[in-house]
Amino acid sequence: MKKKIVIAIDGPAASGKSTTAKLLAKKLGYIYIDTGAMYRAFTLKALSENLLESLLVDEALLHQFVANTDVRLSDAQVWLDERDVTADIRSNEVSKFVSKISALKAVREKLSAIQKKLGEAKGVVMDGRDIGTAIFPNAELKIYMMASARERAKRRYAELKAQNADLDVSLDTLEAEIRQRDEEDMNRTVSPLRKADDAVVLDTSSLTVEEQVERIYQLALEKINCSKE
Ligand code: DC
Repeated sequence: MKKKIVIAIDGPAASGKSTTAKLLAKKLGYIYIDTGAMYRAFTLKALSENLLESLLVDEALLHQFVANTDVRLSDAQVWLDERDVTADIRSNEVSKFVSKISALKAVREKLSAIQKKLGEAKGVVMDGRDIGTAIFPNAELKIYMMASARERAKRRYAELKAQNADLDVSLDTLEAEIRQRDEEDMNRTVSPLRKADDAVVLDTSSLTVEEQVERIYQLALEKINCSKE
């Protein structure tokens, strides 16, 4: 039987992580885990219960909220308290506020524990912001994906337009939001976004998705063939 490894893919918003990670997992027969989806689900609940501002300042409320919130991933679906929120967590509203919720220690502790458990048996491709640095610092393969803010805004625009053709948002606004999110993700106190020292950097600005998948796939095969476990 082939050895299984953990592949950690980190990088800023809209750098192409999830599309690439999903296809890579399929190609390797691995499980794909989208950790951003978990933070998005928490944010969706905070927004729909009108609790966002209170959670940022009320520690007791935050702990109660975290304890009473259940997030689960199954295949391509995301479940929040047994409700399928796969589509809802992709809204621009959630994207705008998710950095605030993901900066909260209590939220990170709960989701980190779930993520570590999901990767225990290896054979996973996990994407996020802190996978190679905090969740799996010993991952056999770490990739740091990046692209210019403009390029990432263009991708997010196309994604949002595909969901809603009447969407009224400019590329400049999306680029500003992406820059703002980078700023918040990179400067938070708990597990900020940063490249792990031993991560391979992949600039996707001028790569197709197929090229991205192929590059990481080749790196993965090298690791699989020389992995000792
Ligand atoms: O990958 P994404 O854009 O769906 O992630 C949404 C947000 O969640 C992102 O702004 C930062 C946060 N996040 C995080 O802090 N840690 C992770 N491991 C994954 C996502």
